[in-house]
Amino acid sequence: MARQPRQAMIAGNWKMHGTIAEACSLASALRSRLASAPADREVVVAPPFTALAAVGEALRGSAIALCAQNVHWETKGAFTGEVSPAMLAEVGCRWVIAGHSERRQLFGETDAGVNRRARGALEAGLRPIVCVGETLAERDAGRCFEVIERQTRAALLDLGSADIQALCIAYEPVWAIGTGRTATPGQAEEVHAVLRRIVAELAGKEISDHLRILYGGSVKPDNIDSLMAEPDVDGALVGGASLEAESFARIVEFRR
Ligand code: 13P
Repeated sequence: MARQPRQAMIAGNWKMHGTIAEACSLASALRSRLASAPADREVVVAPPFTALAAVGEALRGSAIALCAQNVHWETKGAFTGEVSPAMLAEVGCRWVIAGHSERRQLFGETDAGVNRRARGALEAGLRPIVCVGETLAERDAGRCFEVIERQTRAALLDLGSADIQALCIAYEPVWAIGTGRTATPGQAEEVHAVLRRIVAELAGKEISDHLRILYGGSVKPDNIDSLMAEPDVDGALVGGASLEAESFARIVEFRR
């Protein structure tokens, strides 16, 4: 089957790494290193909240887009520790991550919360990267597809077609995150194909054919090419390997 014309996307999730100075230095290095990268792929970085504004400045005028690692759904109010969609848009974010497994596992994020965050982001014109992924225990118990389906349907609940068109889904198996144990291209493809079928049921085939589904979990320069060779793998959400300009750049420069 011919590959659908979906623009590849490589996103770097810097997690809780980087003072403002460190983040700006990484952003500047990436900017110059990627100046000659192929223009057919979208590049996104997600620094910590405190560095967003400064990194936004460092990337101004470049093709690298800014992403936040989380977002609240309300526009303002008594929500200590949270950041509103408008605040993120103001510092130049175009993307936000919603439902990262570290939020789910370590900070009690629920399926319903992920849906609220995605909806709040979309209402403010931000584009969510909605994360789903099973734990090792769930996979070993044969529950991978059931978990993925539950998380996806919950995250996209009540979203209209235009909203689903604006977002990306990232499949990040929890057992592959930060472990060096990448899903095989076949394992990633199998889940991505299921995700695309679920979105086709929710929003129609046209939208699901255009939906970008990223893989995340120990993506490195030496495994990106084989992952991107799979027909339903449209990009990557990269943690550790996004913290060095050279390794992230090589991932951006994947070859199919
Ligand atoms: P690693 O690439 O460090 O495994 O992290 C993946 C991830 O969680 C990206 O959001």
